[in-house]
Amino acid sequence: MDVNLVKQTNLQTMTGFSAWKEDLDQEGTLKILVCGGGNGAHCMAALASSRPHVEVRVLTLYADEADRWTKALEEDDMTISITYSEDHVEDVKSRPSLVTKDPAKAAEGIHMIFFTVPAFAHAQYLKAIAPHILENTLLIGLPGQAGFEFQAVKAIGDKAKVCAVASFESLPWACRTMEFGRHVQLLGFKEALGAAILIGSKSNLTTHSLDVIQFIFGENPVFKVINNYVAINLMAKSIIHPPLMYGRWRGYNDEVLEAKPLFYQGVDDEQADLLSKVSDEVVKTAKVIQEKRPTVDMSAVIHILDWYREYYCHEITDHGCLKNAMQTNKAYDGLLHPMKEVSDGFVPDFNYRYIREDVPFGLVVMKGIAQIAEVDTPTIDTIITWAQKKLNKEFLVGKRLDGKDMEETRAPQVYGFKTIEDLFHI
Ligand code: NAI
Repeated sequence: MDVNLVKQTNLQTMTGFSAWKEDLDQEGTLKILVCGGGNGAHCMAALASSRPHVEVRVLTLYADEADRWTKALEEDDMTISITYSEDHVEDVKSRPSLVTKDPAKAAEGIHMIFFTVPAFAHAQYLKAIAPHILENTLLIGLPGQAGFEFQAVKAIGDKAKVCAVASFESLPWACRTMEFGRHVQLLGFKEALGAAILIGSKSNLTTHSLDVIQFIFGENPVFKVINNYVAINLMAKSIIHPPLMYGRWRGYNDEVLEAKPLFYQGVDDEQADLLSKVSDEVVKTAKVIQEKRPTVDMSAVIHILDWYREYYCHEITDHGCLKNAMQTNKAYDGLLHPMKEVSDGFVPDFNYRYIREDVPFGLVVMKGIAQIAEVDTPTIDTIITWAQKKLNKEFLVGKRLDGKDMEETRAPQVYGFKTIEDLFHI
C-alpha cells in the first residue's frame, strides 16, 4: 500500500473512492460507522474523527454504553494519546458526530462499517445493521477474526452481492480505554497488517477501497493486501493465545497463585513449541489448498516466527527463535495471564477471550478449513479438546468437527462449505 495516500487532501480524487462519488455531499465527506464500545472502538472512533473529510458515528448495543458515551461527549471532546515512541506521545482531540444504540440512525448514508468488537459480538451487530445496509457499503472486520466473511455474507444475504466484506488479520494498534467515552491510549502501532477484501459480484467497490482505509488510519501500519479471504482466515492472530493457555494451564490443579504470571514474555520452551506446531499445521493447510487449487495465492500464510520477525521487526531484540522473539518483544511488556482475583490470590480465567473468542472464532475455523483440505492437525485437535472442556462446549469429537455446539462457531462447515471449491465460491 502506498503510504503517500495518507497525505491526500481531496478524497474524491482517490481511485478507491469512486464507488461512493455519486452520493457524496459537496465537501466529499466519507461517512463511517464504528461498531462497539471497547478499547478498539474508542481508538478507531477517536483516530478516524481526527482525519479530514471523515465523519464518524458509533453504534454500541452493549448495556448502557451509548448513553454513557453520549454523556461523556456532552462535557468534552475525546482525547487520543498516540504513542509514536517511548518519549513521543501526542494528545489529539476529536469527536464522533453521533454515538447511538439505534442501528437505523447509525447506518444512514454510511459508506464503511467497522466491526471493532470481540468476535463473539459480531453476530449481534450484523443482525442489527443488515436491514439498513446500502449498496456499495464496505463492511470491515477490525479485526475480522477467523470466519468473519462466512458470517457476514450469510447475515446480509442478497446485499452481499452489492457490497464488499474486508477483514484485517489483527487490530492495527495496541490500545486501552483510559476513561470511557473520553480518553483512549494508542500504545503502539503494528508495523504492517494484512487485509483481504471479498467483493460482491454486482458491487462497484474494488481492492482500491482499502486505500481509503489506509488514508483513515494514517501512515502506520502499512497495509498488505492479501489476495484471498481464505488466506486471511488462516492468518488470524487468534492462533497465539490458545496454545499458550494450554501449555501453561493444562496441568492446573485449582491452586491459587500469589501473582499473575507474564503471558507472552513468560513463554517457555513447551509453549513456544506448541504454538510453532499449531502454526506448522496452519501453514501446511495453506500449502495443500495451494496445491489443490494452483490459481489461488496462499503465500501470505507464513509461520508465526516469520510473522513476528516481519510485523514486530523493531520491537523484538532477539529474533533467534520463537521463545526468544516473544520474550523480548517490547510490545508485550508487562502483559499478564488473564486471571480472576480470589480472596488469597489469583486463579486462571478460562472464560477470557483468549479461549472464549480465540477457539470458536479462531482455532475451530482453521481446523474446519484443514478438515476440508484433508490436513491432519494433531496439535490443534489436542488444544481444542482441552479448551472446549474449559468452555463446557463440544466442537471436536475425536478428529472431526462433529460436536453438538458447532453452531456456536464460525467454522466453514456451519455455513455448508464442504469442499475447497465451495470455499472459493462464497
Ligand atoms: P474489548 O474487550 O475492549 O471489547 C469490549 C466491548 O465489547 C464492550 O465495551 C462492548 O462494547 C462489547 N461487548 C463485550 N461483551 C459483549 C456482549 N456480550 N455483547 C455485546 N457486546 C459486547 O475489546 P477490544 O480491546 O476493543 O478488542 C476488539 C478486538 O480486537 C478483539 O477481537 C481483540 O481480541 C482484538 N485485539 C485487541 C487489541 C487491543 O489492544 N485492545 C490488540 C489486538 C487485537
